[in-house]
Amino acid sequence: RPVPVIAIDGPTASGKGTVAAHLAQALGFHYLDSGVMYRATALLAQRQGIALDDEAALAALARHLPIRCEGGTVWLGPENASDAIRTEAVGQAASTLSALPAVRRALLDLQRSLRRAPGLVADGRDMGTVVFPDARLKVFLTADAQARAERRHKQLISKGISTTLTQVLHELEQRDARDTQRSVAALKPAQDALPLNTSALDVDQTVHQVLQWWRQRS
Ligand code: C5P
Repeated sequence: RPVPVIAIDGPTASGKGTVAAHLAQALGFHYLDSGVMYRATALLAQRQGIALDDEAALAALARHLPIRCEGGTVWLGPENASDAIRTEAVGQAASTLSALPAVRRALLDLQRSLRRAPGLVADGRDMGTVVFPDARLKVFLTADAQARAERRHKQLISKGISTTLTQVLHELEQRDARDTQRSVAALKPAQDALPLNTSALDVDQTVHQVLQWWRQRS
């Protein structure tokens, strides 16, 4: 049997990352945060002055991304880039360049190469639709924009980044619109994905539900 994959897709700040990391921990699986790869590409593009519509240059950058993820740390070459890739500007740039087909293709092999025994929990936008269409379990996490904005706002404040809830909500809606309306790998649930709205659930409750689904399938 192929190495099992659990695909967790959903919009920004739906709790995917936290839930996927907890799941991986609970099951002893590897964890792929695919957004990190788009963010790392965006960060390097920003630093090297590559325009966000220069598809060939961005794809070349993505194909040779010197990235390594260890626990919660993201290394770009020798640099710990964990914080640098998390800024709002890098997130918006990642969302823009992730609409380019050549960039997505360039990151495909890298993402698939992380599928290793005993299993992988993969989080992103197209894990269940494009990258791992044969995933054994696919979950599509959603939450109301207001609930997601409140979570993201709390997160930013706790990191000492000053911003308002209104500003966060506005940026979130912009990113949602871009991610769902693009013509390539638009954010949409796989046909066989199980939807889970987490607006009223905390992390433990969400993880519990997904683990229950997983046990029914393994
Ligand atoms: O999930 P995260 O916010 O880190 O992702 C940053 C951006 O990268 C998203 O807004 C999305 O446009 C893009 N992305 C993607 N496909 C993925 C993961 C992220 O297009 N699998």
